[in-house]
Amino acid sequence: EITAVFILAVAHKCRAQKDNVLQPKGDMSSAEGEAATLDCLYNSTSTNTYLYWYKQDGNNSPKFILSRVRLDEGNTADDHKERFSSTLNSTFRSVPLKIQKLHLSDSAVYYCALHSLCSE
Ligand SMILES: *[C@@H]1O[C@H](CO)[C@@H](O)[C@H](O)[C@H]1NC(C)=O
Ligand SMILES: *[C@@H]1O[C@H](CO)[C@@H](O)[C@H](O)[C@H]1NC(C)=O
Repeated sequence: EITAVFILAVAHKCRAQKDNVLQPKGDMSSAEGEAATLDCLYNSTSTNTYLYWYKQDGNNSPKFILSRVRLDEGNTADDHKERFSSTLNSTFRSVPLKIQKLHLSDSAVYYCALHSLCSE
């Protein structure tokens, strides 16, 4: 949870560089057992861009799912490794979150966040 606060603070600092993410708004519903893909597009002026996905369930704090720095490189939380994945596409500036075999407990709000190293 402290990590999330830190990341939000860094993203705010980079806003001056027009770095941002765009998540298509709206609800998505799928049946249990199916697969789902949640989209996230981003703009970044930095070559060192880290993309993150978080899950927020009810009033709980957002929980880290995974990070990507390029293609499949990054970290995925141990308890999400089995069904959650993402491949960062730097050409199309997208980092879609793929969820396999949906569980009822996957119903939640999912956040995409960006963290650029602002040194350039
Ligand atoms: C990225 O910037 C372009 C040009 O300003 C804009 O059209 C596009 O919507 C932006 N994409 C995102 C994800 O914000
Ligand atoms: C990026 O996305 C485009 C459009 O879906 C696809 O054609 C391209 O192969 C992707 N690139 C990578 C590196 O995945």
